Amino acid sequence: MALLRDGQCVGLPTETVYGLAGDALNPAALAGIFAGKNRPRFDPLILHVAEGFALEKIAADIPPVARTLMARFWPGPLTLLFAKRELVPDLATAGLPTVAVRCPAHPVAQALLREFGGPLAAPSANQFGRISPTTAAAVADELGDAVPLILDGGPCRVGVESTILNVSGGAVTLLRPGGIALEEVTAVIGRVGRPADGAVTAPGMLKSHYAPRTPLERLAAPWPADRALPVNVALLAWRGFAGADGERRRVRVLAADGELSLAAARLFQCLRELDALGMEKIFAEPVPARGLGLAINDRLERASAFGI
Ligand code: TXA
Ligand code: MG
Repeated sequence: MALLRDGQCVGLPTETVYGLAGDALNPAALAGIFAGKNRPRFDPLILHVAEGFALEKIAADIPPVARTLMARFWPGPLTLLFAKRELVPDLATAGLPTVAVRCPAHPVAQALLREFGGPLAAPSANQFGRISPTTAAAVADELGDAVPLILDGGPCRVGVESTILNVSGGAVTLLRPGGIALEEVTAVIGRVGRPADGAVTAPGMLKSHYAPRTPLERLAAPWPADRALPVNVALLAWRGFAGADGERRRVRVLAADGELSLAAARLFQCLRELDALGMEKIFAEPVPARGLGLAINDRLERASAFGI
């Protein structure tokens, strides 16, 4: 708490991924966050709030549809974009007139936010453009000495970042698929707009992102059971791997039971492990494009895009 009041950052567990958290209303703390992960300042941050936080302090207008979504999904992996109030520093929103807000479900995050009182800005605690961390050890690997304290809340339950919806402009639009499936959202509020394919929908949603150091290539179909996996290639498999025992060391299976929630929870850790093998290439099998599969495929697509 003293660190946060002093404008420093801490590694924070959330149910999606670990964040690098600092006082959202203190520009010095925000500058520390950008510096800590080498993040360009055009990429705005998400403000995290405790349950029951008076949202009116930071959001100028809270439309009824936002209230419906918050009642159903908060605390949880849903981020909403509101017209911002003056109080929110421009550095937090990269000069945009909107502010992204989320109420995380992880008990450690909630306890810290409750005690701190105000909003904490927290991007994922990785070096800019790299794989998001889902364990405290991964945060230490990514940010090392740049962060004075990492709170260990265990492995993240959801494993992919929050779903981001823009509710500030009348119609609701999806800016980032994430930990709340789109089907769950539409079941509650009906239609959700999808920005045109390939458009940079949010300033930070660059094509090349979530990237391992090893080049990643998405496969159009599962790796054929009768074909040997080349010695310099690792495989991110969806449901299983029928190849030779000797090849298994280079393979991670996302979800043998076919549960997309398990696949999401394992995605970044599996990528991290395969990356550490130092192969020439990582092949990634496709996962079904429904539920959390939308977020998983989005991350794999961005991880495979080299150059922006
Ligand atoms: O699950 C999560 O959302 C995690 C955990 C730590 O809470 N946080 C996270 O933050 O994923 P970050 O910084 O890695 O991604 C936030 C993204 C930005 O890249 C940007 O695309 C979008 O949120 N964003 C934030 N404010 C925005 C705004 N005002 N307008 C458009 N997009 C915004
Ligand atoms: Mg991130």
